[in-house]
Amino acid sequence: MDISILTRAVLAGTALLVAAVPTSAAEPGRLLASQCAQCHGTNGAGPGFEEIAGKDLFNDLIDMKYRPIEGIMDRQARGYTDEQLRLIADYLSTLPGNGDD
Ligand code: HEC
Repeated sequence: MDISILTRAVLAGTALLVAAVPTSAAEPGRLLASQCAQCHGTNGAGPGFEEIAGKDLFNDLIDMKYRPIEGIMDRQARGYTDEQLRLIADYLSTLPGNGDD
């Protein structure tokens, strides 16, 4: 077999594999934020507790993480690295929300 044909076939296969992998930049944040849906509703827009979609919550989440534990969110925020909180906040800020607080 002509080696260049084999090489091309391998390259084509590699290209197909790369194309099959989802490449959404929001993916890590979406996965991390899926946990929030239990209490804040699917896509952070209820029904549930306060709406968390459509705003940048990074500073709020950092406050929650480092202040003394007062409530449930202070415990939730401690479950993530600062970088993960950034990913969660960035992802949630891209969601439409419904205009509620
Ligand atoms: C076990 C339930 C629960 C989970 C899971 C949860 N939350 Fe909360 N969250 C609450 C409750 C209850 C409140 C309101 C009372 C309070 O702050 O303690 C709240 C409030 C908040 C607030 C304050 C909103 C405001 O307008 O004051 C933010 C921001 C928030 N949550 C973000 C998140 C994010 C981001 C996640 C996922 C990483 C998350 N929550 C997961 C229960 C939860």
